[in-house]
This record gives sequence, structure tokens and C-alpha cells, in this order.
Amino acid sequence: MAVLERPRADVVTAPRVESRRPVPLRLRVNGAMHELALDSRTSLLDALREHLGLTGAKKGCDHGQCGACTVLLDGRRILSCLTFALMAEGREVTTIEGLAQPDGALHAMQQAFIDHDAFQCGYCTPGQIMSAIGCVNEGHANSEDEIREYMSGNLCRCACYPNIVDAVDDAKAKMKGS
Ligand code: FES
Ligand code: FES
Repeated sequence: MAVLERPRADVVTAPRVESRRPVPLRLRVNGAMHELALDSRTSLLDALREHLGLTGAKKGCDHGQCGACTVLLDGRRILSCLTFALMAEGREVTTIEGLAQPDGALHAMQQAFIDHDAFQCGYCTPGQIMSAIGCVNEGHANSEDEIREYMSGNLCRCACYPNIVDAVDDAKAKMKGS
């Protein structure tokens, strides 16, 4: 077996991956500053859930397909599974944990989801609520069809869609008045 008698090719060692070295990072989340040291490839979702203990944002697909990880970055909705934590430095991150007032009063969108029974298992709900706030603030909640279109990135396996549309429509007026 001539092929077995050949000397083995030199093993090429991959260069050390510097990105694995923890990078210092300051993250402002729900008004509080956090000092972290993370692998530069850490997603914002993992930073929130695994390093800050903020488990409201959910990991559904981890691939930008379900919307369960939606949070606000400088007031705009983003998918935290597709966002590096480093990209949030110097910006304001808002998660579902940061919506209620210090006295416990719920955000109008949280209350509307309760009032309209807009969830069943609740797994998608934090992402739905954060996305719904973004949807209203963007001015994309002017009709049921528009709400459906601009909330279409948030999947609900319990199919609570009609109730979610009702909740967004209801909260819209209250958010404008607040
Ligand atoms: Fe981010 Fe599904 S977990 S979109
Ligand atoms: Fe169960 Fe939406 S309430 S996935």
C-alpha cells in the first residue's frame, strides 16, 4: 500500500484565534451600566441571558427567524441573536425586564397583552411585546393589516395572532397618550 508508506503531510496549526480572548465591554441595559469581559463573538442575546441573568429575551431559533429574542436598541427593535454584544456598547438596550415602572405599573403594551389574552405558553411573548412597541413607535400600527405585516417577524407557535393584533391596536392609542 504505497499510499500508506508516504510520509504524513506536515500538520498545519491554525493561528491562535485572538477573538476568543475576553474583550472588556460596558453595556447599558434598562438604565443600568454593566462591566463585562466577553468573547468578541458573543451575541447580545447570550450576553443578556448568560452573563447578566436577564432571561426575558428568549432564544427560539438563534438564527433570526422567530423574533423571540427581540429587544430595543436605542429605542429600535432588533434581533439580539443576530447582534454582537460589542455592537451595543455606548447604546441603550431595553429588554422586557425594563418596561415596567419602579412601582410595578406595567407598560401599556404589557397590560394590553394581558387584557386581550394575547399569549398561551408565553415563550414568544417578551419578543412580541418588544417588537410591538417598536412597531407602534415606527408608525406601523395604523391598521390590522399593517400590524400583521410589521409583526410578521415574530412567530407564535400557539397561534395567538388575532389576540396579539388586538393588543397592539389597543396599546397604540394608550402609548400615544402617554
Ligand atoms: Fe433570535 Fe429567533 S432567537 S430570531
Ligand atoms: Fe406560545 Fe406564542 S404564546 S409561542
